[in-house]
Amino acid sequence: MTLHITNAAKEIGVAPITLKRWLLSGKVSDVKRDRNGWRIFEQIDIRRIRKYANGISNAPTQLQLPDQNHINDKTVAFRDSAFNGNKKLPFHRWVPWIAGFSADFVEDCLEKYLPDQKPSELTVLDPFSGVGTTLIEGFLHGCNVTGFEINPYAYLACKVKLNAHRYDIADIEKTLQRFGRYYRTRTEDESYTPRATAPNTFTTRSPFYSPKVERKVLILFDFLPNIKNLEIRDLFRLAFGTVMVSFSNYSYEPSLGRRASSGKPDIEDADVGGVIEAKVRQMIDDIKEFDELHAESTKALQTRIYNESFFDATEFCDRDSIDLLVTSPPYLNNYHYLRNTRPQLYWLDLASDNRFRKKIEHASFGKFWQTVRDKDTIEPVFSLDRLNRKLEILRGINPEKGVYGGHGWANYAATYFNDSYRFCRVASELLKPGGTAVVVIGNSILQGLEIETDEIFADIGELAGLKKKDIVMLRTKRTGSSIIDSTVRAGKTKRKTILYETAVVMTK
Ligand SMILES: C[S@@+](CC[C@H](N)C(=O)[O-])C[C@H]1O[C@@H](n2cnc3c(N)ncnc32)[C@H](O)[C@@H]1O
Repeated sequence: MTLHITNAAKEIGVAPITLKRWLLSGKVSDVKRDRNGWRIFEQIDIRRIRKYANGISNAPTQLQLPDQNHINDKTVAFRDSAFNGNKKLPFHRWVPWIAGFSADFVEDCLEKYLPDQKPSELTVLDPFSGVGTTLIEGFLHGCNVTGFEINPYAYLACKVKLNAHRYDIADIEKTLQRFGRYYRTRTEDESYTPRATAPNTFTTRSPFYSPKVERKVLILFDFLPNIKNLEIRDLFRLAFGTVMVSFSNYSYEPSLGRRASSGKPDIEDADVGGVIEAKVRQMIDDIKEFDELHAESTKALQTRIYNESFFDATEFCDRDSIDLLVTSPPYLNNYHYLRNTRPQLYWLDLASDNRFRKKIEHASFGKFWQTVRDKDTIEPVFSLDRLNRKLEILRGINPEKGVYGGHGWANYAATYFNDSYRFCRVASELLKPGGTAVVVIGNSILQGLEIETDEIFADIGELAGLKKKDIVMLRTKRTGSSIIDSTVRAGKTKRKTILYETAVVMTK
């Protein structure tokens, strides 16, 4: 008896997406195809692949790091957590996101921490969904998924990615053809003046688009209202959002800045329509593949994504309803998601209103240094000696710099950890007893002082009703230098410090 990929995966005991990845990456050699091009698995293939599956060991291995660092005692038990690996994977490749993590990492978490139950009876939560890596991966593995994302552009990405398999493919294809004709006739007609205009409140130091590029972008915007199906219009809007910076005079380095500032020439002209068509075609390919691999296993699943702050999650989710939480909150590095997505927020008219953006800023996890630096001393709302000591040292650094010195950064750190506490409280309400939370987080250096964010976070989790299970090293990023705590006042002796990311694993 031969099987198609979905049933073959069931026989082997892995998700269809996992089997597909093994085949694509050559980890197991490919199988024959039938007349229609569908993969067919014979019993001999099933046995061969099952043998491979059984041989994959999950045993943690020790990461080798220089001796002087305390992170030596953390173990590695996951594959690379960085987003780069997503660039070729269906759905994940749609939206690049600087702070996203890899599908492989999420897959490892699902394997390790989901209870041994039918996936369709389980719910996976990502409180800071970004562009939806956890949600998509959980869904492709057959689980119900729930997400919160405060940034309207990232929310749009999650919404379209999670729902696109329900859209009418033939309609998307027809719309794409109509777009091609519409765009070409008008770009070639020099007398055509676009009706759409650039968002007038979006101010940048130099023109965001060169005139020729802007004219082409506006032709796309003339076309968008012709897409009557609003879901398909959103898919085109997202497609534009994902590529719009690539033909602008700005680039991500990783913060959004002028190309000129990083020595790159401005982009005078570009094939705007072609780039968007290629993106939509990529989306169509993935949606088609979805039917082959997942239509059956995901039919009855719930996918919920809220454009709300996770701090309000108890208004939307039931207590004790989540089996596994996998997330990465903003790090203690003041990376400004809202600022870095300004082009998308303004051009797609998602948050052009200043008051609305301020509201999001204030509801964001950890707020921002700019928002809290000139406030009176902000204290932790809970009692944790190691954090109090850190904050005291930090506050004492560079007092002559006023709010730009230790005081401002200590306020930011205190706000960040207060939000970590709020987060852990809400997470502990939503998790089922025995449920697991995996939180990816990095250490930081503020004013030259190392803050072991992950360890403090784990202690805070304990105060908020969770149990610390593990801190797992994921990757090291680069080396910085930090002051040895005890010598801050005595001449600032420096030591080499490795910036790293870990997964803090907690249970309820
Ligand atoms: C590190 S990113 C998550 C990336 C995600 N793991 C991925 O792979 O795409 C953190 C996200 O948290 C979001 N965020 C910040 N504060 C939030 C809040 N209070 N509620 C929900 N989302 C929030 C930010 O907009 C940002 O997209």
